[in-house]
Amino acid sequence: MEEKTEMKGTHIPRIGEPAPEFKAVTTQGDINFPGDYKGSWVILFSHPADFTPVCTSEFMTFASMEKDFNDANCKLVGLSVDGLYSHIAWLRTIKEKIEYKGMKDVEVTFPLIEDITMEVATKYGMMMPGESNTKAVRAVFVIDPAGIVRTVIYYPLSLGRNFSELYRIIIALQAADEFKIATPADWQPGDDVIVPTAGSCGTAKDRMDSKDPDIKCYDWFFCTKKLSKEKVLKTILKQV
Ligand code: BEZ
Repeated sequence: MEEKTEMKGTHIPRIGEPAPEFKAVTTQGDINFPGDYKGSWVILFSHPADFTPVCTSEFMTFASMEKDFNDANCKLVGLSVDGLYSHIAWLRTIKEKIEYKGMKDVEVTFPLIEDITMEVATKYGMMMPGESNTKAVRAVFVIDPAGIVRTVIYYPLSLGRNFSELYRIIIALQAADEFKIATPADWQPGDDVIVPTAGSCGTAKDRMDSKDPDIKCYDWFFCTKKLSKEKVLKTILKQV
């Protein structure tokens, strides 16, 4: 039975704060985080251990979607508290041997950080002793081009992540920044978006009285407007 001790120096980066800085060795060479990623969105995520099934399914899925993330100006960086040679052997096994859900010959080309000292995992609150003292939980940090933490999600060891949701988050955050809107529950590009409240878009009465056919108010505090999928994708993915 693992002892559930508090990890010294544990810190959970919070939304709106600068991403903690670190230097690390990865499967793609040394990185200086987040400095090397300035100007890009980046998803820093941890997985519990190499050569485990849920993590393997996650890496195959994420690597298969990497181009979609890159097209949205988002880079991926993985981490576990395993060593570099374990990472390299596991990623080679995935490429050479694993065929899963139609994915095969999957090459993971994004960096995977070795963190045997748990220095980075501790800095990013990825170690949760109630879950495991020796493995990082499945943490996800979405960091913007200015190095600010914009979304934080944690999953337990047994629960594989939904990578379509991570992609939706990248598009939604960029849409919110570009168009100064918010996105409602389950939003997907092409769905109506939320017109910000309080001052930024006229008074509540202005919006309620708006004759703009693209604006719909459900009450004074809840108005939406149309934002076409084409406009979102053209702006974020630079699609013509
Ligand atoms: C997995 O990826 O399958 C896994 C890793 C650590 C604990 C439990 C499951």
